[in-house]
Amino acid sequence: MTKGDRGHFATKFGVLMATVGSAVGLGNIWRFPYQMGMNGGAAFLIVYILAVFLVGIPAMVAEFIIGRESHKNTVDAFNAVAPGTHWNLLGYLGVITGGIISCYYCVVVGWTLYYLYISASNSLVGYSPEQYNAIFNHFVVNPYIPTLFLVLVIVITGVIVSRGVQNGIERMSKIMMPMLFILLIALGINSCMMPNAFQGLKFMFVYDASKLTFDGAMDAIGQAFYSLSLGMGCLITYSSYFKDNVNLPKTASQIAIVDLLVAVLSGIMIFPALFSLGMQPDEGAGLVFKVLPSVFSQMALGSVWAVMFYVLLFIAALTSFMSLYEVIISFVVEKFNITRVRACIIMSAIFAVMGIVNSLSFGVLSDLTIFGNSIFDTFDYLSTTILLPFGGIFTSLFVGWRLDRKVINTQLNINSPFKFKAIKVYIFFLRFIIPIAILTMFVFSIIN
Ligand code: TRP
Repeated sequence: MTKGDRGHFATKFGVLMATVGSAVGLGNIWRFPYQMGMNGGAAFLIVYILAVFLVGIPAMVAEFIIGRESHKNTVDAFNAVAPGTHWNLLGYLGVITGGIISCYYCVVVGWTLYYLYISASNSLVGYSPEQYNAIFNHFVVNPYIPTLFLVLVIVITGVIVSRGVQNGIERMSKIMMPMLFILLIALGINSCMMPNAFQGLKFMFVYDASKLTFDGAMDAIGQAFYSLSLGMGCLITYSSYFKDNVNLPKTASQIAIVDLLVAVLSGIMIFPALFSLGMQPDEGAGLVFKVLPSVFSQMALGSVWAVMFYVLLFIAALTSFMSLYEVIISFVVEKFNITRVRACIIMSAIFAVMGIVNSLSFGVLSDLTIFGNSIFDTFDYLSTTILLPFGGIFTSLFVGWRLDRKVINTQLNINSPFKFKAIKVYIFFLRFIIPIAILTMFVFSIIN
């Protein structure tokens, strides 16, 4: 690549797969089902769908506008669209938030790789639920094994990202995302064919108003935001690699719909099986590591399904981690003018050290707490609960109040079969609806 040519996604299918790869991650397969499980099923789903359409898609388009208009990393993107102002701080905030998320996300990606490894070596089936609890609890406190897997994850990601946007991220996503779909559908069908599976489907799809709490509604907005990779310039970075023929509102809608579909399919893959085996849906964060192995153990050909599931989880997590990684790499490469390979080596080393610290906070470093929380929980809380909403509010306010209308108009209408007429409505969403929705969620989650 020559200097100044920063690369782009080659095809529209590649754009979709890479961005869906970012959006579809642990958030869909691990976080969504347990949040739904704890918040009453169908009621949560309805609010979630509203949040995706009313907050998620408009916020996603806002990030796309900044990224594609500037074709720059998230810091320089703000420098380009608002020169001489301090809005670039929002770009820096994104890089920092991305760094913080990466440091604990890679730990969980490591867990998925470990579970893939033990399921493939046939040592995951045939235990009791208590034993699965013990397996997980022993694993996470071990000082060496999680470290090994997390370093492996960082190396794999570093190699893919170092190969560039088109040859690394786009190419891997185009293989991995369709694979993920096939696995998800196979696992979903299998789950629905188990005895009493309809109980699980009923839990997911039969609306019971009494189960909808304000708490649950706020969780749904936060979940939509996290699942769509919003609030830290991740999609500013990816859209900076979009060519000028990509229609932004259409692409955002496609991504959001696929992301939603994957979340719902994840539920369909998990809840019917869970109910069929008489287990509880409100297990919380341990669901995919502690509860699902019991589910697989009791299925015919359980070890095959287990391997498929952890391959799926690993792919989803890895492609999301790649996108977090790319935010930082694009910034480092363009800011310090070094090669991608060098940037990846340096950042991998930093992620490895920080990832290990996060990982050890379950075991040997568990006494080291910040305001009573472990390092891992602090990183998670700081990024997901504080920095992402903050970034989301200000990005929306920036595009709504500050960005030149002409830029918005042009970006929205590129390659559009009809003229995007709802620009006033869209701006109203950016100025009021999105900031207020996120602020409400933010204040509420801080108080909680
Ligand atoms: N969306 C991903 C998931 O569902 C996680 C993720 C990737 C993310 N990049 C992000 C979350 C940027 C917030 C911001 O797992």
